Amino acid sequence: MSANPGIPSSGTPEVNEPTTPVPPLPRKPDQATAEPYSPTGCPMHISPDVNAQQGEYLTTAQGGRLRDTDHSLKAGERGPLLMQDHHFREKITHFDHERIPERVVHARGAAAHGVFKANGAASSICRAGVFAEGKETPVFTRFSTVLGNRGSADTVRDTRGFAVKFYTDEGTWDLVGNNIPVFFIQDGIKFPDVIHAAKPHPDRDIPQAQSAHDTFWDFVTLHTEATHHTIWNMSDRGIPRSYRMMEGFGVNTFRMINDKGETSLVKFHWKPKLGVHSQVWEEAQITGGVDPDFHRRDLADAIESGAFPEWDLGLQVFPDNKEQMFEGIDLLDPTKIVPEELAPVQIVGTMTLNKNVSNFHEETEQVAFHPGHLPPGIDVTADPLLQGRLFSYLDTQISRLGGPNFAQLPINRPHAPVNDMFREGMHQQGQHIGVAPYQPNSLDGGNPFPAEPSNGALIDVPVPVEGEITRSAPASFDDHYSQARLFYVSLSPIEQKHVADAYTFELGKCYEKAIKERAVHVLSNVDHDLASTVAKGLGVPAPEKKDLPEPTPSPALSQVGKTWPIDGRQIGILVTDDLPEDQVADVASLSKAIEDAGMVPLVTSTSGGTIGEPEEATGVAVSRTYVTVRSIEFDAAVVVETPEQPEVSILLSEMIRHGKAVALVGDATAQVPDRMGDAPGVVTVNAAADALDVLTPMLKGHRTWAANPA
Ligand code: HEM
Repeated sequence: MSANPGIPSSGTPEVNEPTTPVPPLPRKPDQATAEPYSPTGCPMHISPDVNAQQGEYLTTAQGGRLRDTDHSLKAGERGPLLMQDHHFREKITHFDHERIPERVVHARGAAAHGVFKANGAASSICRAGVFAEGKETPVFTRFSTVLGNRGSADTVRDTRGFAVKFYTDEGTWDLVGNNIPVFFIQDGIKFPDVIHAAKPHPDRDIPQAQSAHDTFWDFVTLHTEATHHTIWNMSDRGIPRSYRMMEGFGVNTFRMINDKGETSLVKFHWKPKLGVHSQVWEEAQITGGVDPDFHRRDLADAIESGAFPEWDLGLQVFPDNKEQMFEGIDLLDPTKIVPEELAPVQIVGTMTLNKNVSNFHEETEQVAFHPGHLPPGIDVTADPLLQGRLFSYLDTQISRLGGPNFAQLPINRPHAPVNDMFREGMHQQGQHIGVAPYQPNSLDGGNPFPAEPSNGALIDVPVPVEGEITRSAPASFDDHYSQARLFYVSLSPIEQKHVADAYTFELGKCYEKAIKERAVHVLSNVDHDLASTVAKGLGVPAPEKKDLPEPTPSPALSQVGKTWPIDGRQIGILVTDDLPEDQVADVASLSKAIEDAGMVPLVTSTSGGTIGEPEEATGVAVSRTYVTVRSIEFDAAVVVETPEQPEVSILLSEMIRHGKAVALVGDATAQVPDRMGDAPGVVTVNAAADALDVLTPMLKGHRTWAANPA
């Protein structure tokens, strides 16, 4: 663990401008790039650095060395520019075209490289090599928000994308999921509608990255199949603490085929080793202003520190029967889950993200996922949402990435041989040979040959289809409320309170009373108390009580009440510059103990530099000052000695209100705001060295919810 992630480059700069030519610096140790594969999927046994910038000198794009890039070529020092200044034109032209269109949805994201290691448990139901016991497959994983622009804040209330590209030997597999297991709509044709409703209003282009506005609530209250996804968004799942602490779901049901040709229906789950944790709403809002990059920073810092995030991949497996139903739940309806208590999640492998990207644009921005990128052994189902997705991603990527050859961008290159007979198109990088890109042919010796399942061909499962052409949905898609209710009744009281607060906030931001009343009416089909609380908060009539089913709660849906590893958590140690020497030594050993426990100590003082004498062993580096820090950075804090300044009391009152653990050393109690010292998350210890033992159990539960008066 490094206590100080965020180092900008692999070199240590000097105060004076460098003048001696040196080769480009290597990438930082925490970074990787797309592995060197050719545009047609051939491993290239070259260092990834071959593709990075070369040479000691500044050049044109054609490799000509340049003497000066600070002055354009002019007719006299005070004269106009000359058209012949190729360097000027080349430089500015390239700059003018640096931006590519952002994604229409999921525009804001962060990604990392890693590896997936299978445990073999899926081999009996899936023939894909990626699931063979012990098999390691490189992955690239991108997390995202859905609604906001590229520059929007990370911590808005929204669904998060969770897209994993597996570079398998049998072709690329993209598992393009979300952190919420259901979707707003049951049919892909509604996607433009839900997104148009959720995006900023078309006249004023506000609000950014929010669902708290009239058009969103207008749509989801008129289109009630959205109720289940919406209540997940209104729960703590809509404001994750970290990408590292999110579950992921493939949402749609897929079909698996084993070596014997037997098929099963499956749903994919990612289970974070650190548990599923969230921010609280006030914290998320503060973070949006104080550190809009909170989630991408957290992911990159954790990887740079060596606290590699891990998720288990799990499957819920269902018999592939004609009805494609399980325990009365339609597996083709993407607004439904199957509770884990009915179909346990079976772990089939583990993903570890262990390298940051080297270049955001080339990797995170240019990566292109597609739910139809599947290895032999996984096939699609007729879920009408999935069917719509199968068209949409490729279509949008052609315009986002400037033509049909984006699969040849380094981050998208398969790690399997590509022989696709596709030719030409903008930005073609394959160096194709032969004269016969058609099939069958004899001029190129018949190459490429069709494969059989026995030599690795993709399998189209011969699922029978029947029925009349129709624009309608099956009756099994009509139940829009029972699972929203199941979700709500499965939450702990504090989580239910957060849901009520979120609805009240979001609908309170709507202008139209009719939409608020309609939303309360919809909620009365989920839970009477919830609907009544929201109605009261909004000042609209309370709903009539309805007879609602009493589902058996699914404990797996709640985030509260379990314990989790504390790896990578950030612990603030609050001190002053003039701390006595003995306390400096205490802080040094606490810092070390926190690091040894796999967490990140953030010593916070009045000014930067070190506390204590730096030349002595006790000198402790200051990570934050009270001017640069805010409570959102800390999962817990140890208060040793603080100056009397407003930032300190704001910081402590926020931490306590947000249910975070705070250890007060000795008489530091005096620094806690009025009436907060008795909160259950606040404890007193005799010496800094004792703090960790007391904080650890609280950190394992993530928050001391009882301490949260909100
Ligand atoms: C189960 C429901 C869905 C899930 C889990 C889902 C997930 C995702 C994720 C994770 C991304 C971001 C990929 C990245 O990181 O680059 C994405 C992008 C996108 N999704 Fe979906 N999505 C769903 C439904 C749909 C539907 C129904 C459509 C359209 C019919 C759609 C169209 C798109 C488009 C156009 C993009 C942008 C792709 C790009 O520019 O590369 N999605 N989706």
